Amino acid sequence: MRILMICLGNICRSPLAEGILQSKLDDRFIVDSAGTGGWHINQPPDKRSIAVARKNGIDITGLRARKFSTDDFETFDLIYVMDRSNYKDVMALAQEDAHRQKVRMILENDDVPDPYFGGEQEFEEVYRMLDKATDAIKAQFERS
Ligand code: 4NP
Repeated sequence: MRILMICLGNICRSPLAEGILQSKLDDRFIVDSAGTGGWHINQPPDKRSIAVARKNGIDITGLRARKFSTDDFETFDLIYVMDRSNYKDVMALAQEDAHRQKVRMILENDDVPDPYFGGEQEFEEVYRMLDKATDAIKAQFERS
């Protein structure tokens, strides 16, 4: 099973989501992340994401940002986006129903807010939301 996490820059939310989910699943599950925007390609995660992950025992320092590509619709089984804006951007690139069906909001009806212009507290809140969301994703695999 291959799972892709998507946000805008691939430096704050989606690398955290990747690290948290991978830490909960065994290596039959491949978890990756990408951004809809390309400004931060090849950069490591934001220092504040690295810090909040480390505080929770997860090392995301080795991750590097990349831009979402339409090939990802084929490579991945499930594509989780962080907010409505990511959802709109990814869906606009999908050419087939089979691809659209892979895309879902990680919180179903809510956005994981972009913490880029926030502070430590916003990153803590994002961590908490993603920890809960990834528990739900894991539980869904355990049921199926
Ligand atoms: P992310 O946060 O989408 O959670 O990685 C952002 C990081 C950078 C930018 C926007 C959002 N930016 O505009 O550079």
